[in-house]
Amino acid sequence: MAGIPNHIIEEIKQRADIVEVVSDALPLKKAGVNYRALCPFHEEKTPSFNVNPEKQIFHCFGCGEGGNAFSFVMKWENVSFPDAVRSLAARYGVAIPSDDGGKQNSQFDRLYSVMEAATSFYHNRLLKEPAGSQIRRYMEKRGLTDATIQAFRLGFAPDAWDELTNHLKDKGYDSATLEKAGLIKKSSRGNFIDRFRARVMFPISDPGGKVIAFGGRRLDDKNKETAKYINSPETPVYHKSRVLYGYDLARKAARNEGAMIVVEGYTDVIALREAGVENCCACSGTAFTPAQAELIKRLCDKVILLFDSDKAGIAAAKRSGSILLDHELGVKVLTLKGYKDPDEYLSSHGQKEFLELAGKASSFVAFVIDQAVLGNDLSNIEGRVAAARETTPYIRRIKDAMERHYYMEILAEKTRIDVKALGNEVDKAGGGVSGDLNKRKSDKPKTSLMAKAERILIGILLEHPDYLKSVAKELCADDFSDPLYKEVFKLTQESVEAGAATAAEVVGRAENDDLRNSVTSICMEKSLFDEEVAEEAAKDCVIRLKFSKEEGKRKKDLWKTAGAEEAKEEFPGAQKKYFDFREKRIQ
Ligand code: CTP
Ligand code: MN
Repeated sequence: MAGIPNHIIEEIKQRADIVEVVSDALPLKKAGVNYRALCPFHEEKTPSFNVNPEKQIFHCFGCGEGGNAFSFVMKWENVSFPDAVRSLAARYGVAIPSDDGGKQNSQFDRLYSVMEAATSFYHNRLLKEPAGSQIRRYMEKRGLTDATIQAFRLGFAPDAWDELTNHLKDKGYDSATLEKAGLIKKSSRGNFIDRFRARVMFPISDPGGKVIAFGGRRLDDKNKETAKYINSPETPVYHKSRVLYGYDLARKAARNEGAMIVVEGYTDVIALREAGVENCCACSGTAFTPAQAELIKRLCDKVILLFDSDKAGIAAAKRSGSILLDHELGVKVLTLKGYKDPDEYLSSHGQKEFLELAGKASSFVAFVIDQAVLGNDLSNIEGRVAAARETTPYIRRIKDAMERHYYMEILAEKTRIDVKALGNEVDKAGGGVSGDLNKRKSDKPKTSLMAKAERILIGILLEHPDYLKSVAKELCADDFSDPLYKEVFKLTQESVEAGAATAAEVVGRAENDDLRNSVTSICMEKSLFDEEVAEEAAKDCVIRLKFSKEEGKRKKDLWKTAGAEEAKEEFPGAQKKYFDFREKRIQ
């Protein structure tokens, strides 16, 4: 851990509370001793992500991911261990002494700072451009006022290979940092060039307002050789699937209004804000992700989808709506008939008309039914069945039974299919719209009795590290038949010997994901053992692992050498050991 002294890491461990740390990222709900949420690391419909405040660990029974507060930050922010430590240090006000005189001590800080410098560069570059220049004319044509340019810190990337690079190098940033930030890239000739050239720049911020990426739109639509939009690549600070454009500016209004309007494009967000509608952000043309749904849920419980009125926009609205429904958000869909997108609508209508229309937005499922009715020929039975089939997966996702029934009635009326038949279709398991992706790679509890005993024993040891000494006298890692449990036992033993007293510390010492995830999975398994008889249960497990194996082997040997009768009569030595061990105290 070059740079960060151990006592600082210890200090952070003491202060950081996993429930608080996870709550910063997702809404947790109390469920028994644990807190629960939809897992941010895989897509799911029912929450299997658990946080245990006592043990200070998390574990998802869906995808098997688990760890302590540090591992959570590493995974969520996609950063290295030292950067996770720095992030938590900042969160809990623990000062990290730096060895470079206090100047930018992490890759993180350097990336934020270079993005900020680039934002200023592009923005000033735009302000410097005289009236009548190409970029100024473009801004005018789109009706972007100076106030908007300020509010969104819009910028201009000049038509040059290295203007940004030179500017930032003069400020002391090296190529490695610029490349890591996605601001420059290797050209086909192998030298570095500015990634964004001849473009309007839209800075993309994290929820706290720090710029983490850019979208760059080409200036000249006649030049079809270059992409309309270029975006920053994924970087340590930018994860596209977890960002909503304009979210930082929309937070307050979304809280006040109780709803967030989600649009597709940067320019739609800007147009809405110019019209005085501030509770608005964009998913930037990609399908909505669970992480984005969680971001909205932090602020409000309603979403109005306002997508482009073309085929792609309708498909995107259907996909996004079902993800939002899964996250128990109320979803409405607003269509602006006759206009390509909100930007176009707002350039000919004002805020008042827009808000009136927004008030009439239809519920998401009603929208899906309407689309199915429009897209199929309802004059024949095939078309009616097809329309019903298109819709049932969405109705199935509604959590409220009465609401579900309401939409079934509507669908029955429109398709003239009996509501009972529709009910059967809705109740069918599986199908779904997007399904649970990427699930169950977890180490499911093993089924053999031996493996079960091994799992229980480890569970008890993680809860009672003080039992370990006596247990280790009777058996070693090699006595475990399951290779993963063998490793977990080794890790537990080494950790306890090194002074670890809690499960979170054992988790912290795991050197690979499988090992770490197994430990959290075992720790979180409900009723793995009964706490009141933990000591007895541990002994039983040791007996099963060690003595019953020995005894079995002895009997077999005796059978071979002396015959069956003798084998039965001989007082088994192993059994004596067994009784002795049962009498011992192991703590
Ligand atoms: N987008 C993108 N890359 C593309 C096209 C689109 O990243 N090649 C994203 C951008 O975030 C864009 C959004 O998808 O804002 C919606 O795309 P589109 O409707 O084509 O763009 P507008 O925002 O409407 O931009 P404009 O008004 O300039 O056409
Ligand atoms: Mn658009």
